[in-house]
Amino acid sequence: MYKKPFIAGNWKMHKTVSETIETLEELKSLVKGVSDRTIMVAPPFTSLSDAGKLLKDSNIFLGAQNMYFEDKGAYTGEISADMLLEVGCKFVILGHSERRHIFGESDEIINKKVKKALQKGLTPILCVGEKLEERENGMVEEVIEKQLEMGLKSLTKEDVLNIIVAYEPVWAIGTGKTASPEDANSVHKFIKDSLKNIFSVEEDKSIILYGGSVKPGNIVGLMEKHFIDGVLVGGASLSPVDFSKIIKF
Ligand code: 13P
Repeated sequence: MYKKPFIAGNWKMHKTVSETIETLEELKSLVKGVSDRTIMVAPPFTSLSDAGKLLKDSNIFLGAQNMYFEDKGAYTGEISADMLLEVGCKFVILGHSERRHIFGESDEIINKKVKKALQKGLTPILCVGEKLEERENGMVEEVIEKQLEMGLKSLTKEDVLNIIVAYEPVWAIGTGKTASPEDANSVHKFIKDSLKNIFSVEEDKSIILYGGSVKPGNIVGLMEKHFIDGVLVGGASLSPVDFSKIIKF
């Protein structure tokens, strides 16, 4: 689907509309002409409309950080797929560990969101990842497999070909601790093998991003690894200079 390195920024709860405009104008000029990467940014909901206008006809795709699985209705505080599409989103991050662990999102809810996004033509970026104690207890594969099985429940091979998976070990997010490129690569291989076993999706057809303290200084080592197709960057994506360095690694 996106065979170039896929470099995505998740801004989380950072940047007002005016800060978004300033950041994106700078980023746009820093990555002007870059055509050998797929670039995406996911600003907060309030910034999406302006960001969509600014990024139209640019080489930067727009994504959202979450959405709800119903089309419309009495769901105070929620945002629908149609709302995201209208402002220019092509991607939506789903099941981020902060959604799972701070806001209590279950695999069942995430699965409904993934299905709705696909039905509406948004590309889901499904996040999976283990907590520190799960890694210490040797449960990495078990945890990831369950998140994949439940998050992708009752999807077809065709659906899965239109999904991106992001491996984000919870202990590496915002902590400055990165999984070693070798450790990340081996989990990515496990994810690719699982997608092949469950959905018959060939290894070179799946896109698996790594997320967790990605910085200009560690991007090369990560991207050198065979099974790492791209990255989902938090903190370092807030700075146009740092993010553009990551993009152009
Ligand atoms: P950091 O890059 O700040 O560790 O965040 C990673 C992340 O959660 C991206 O979705």
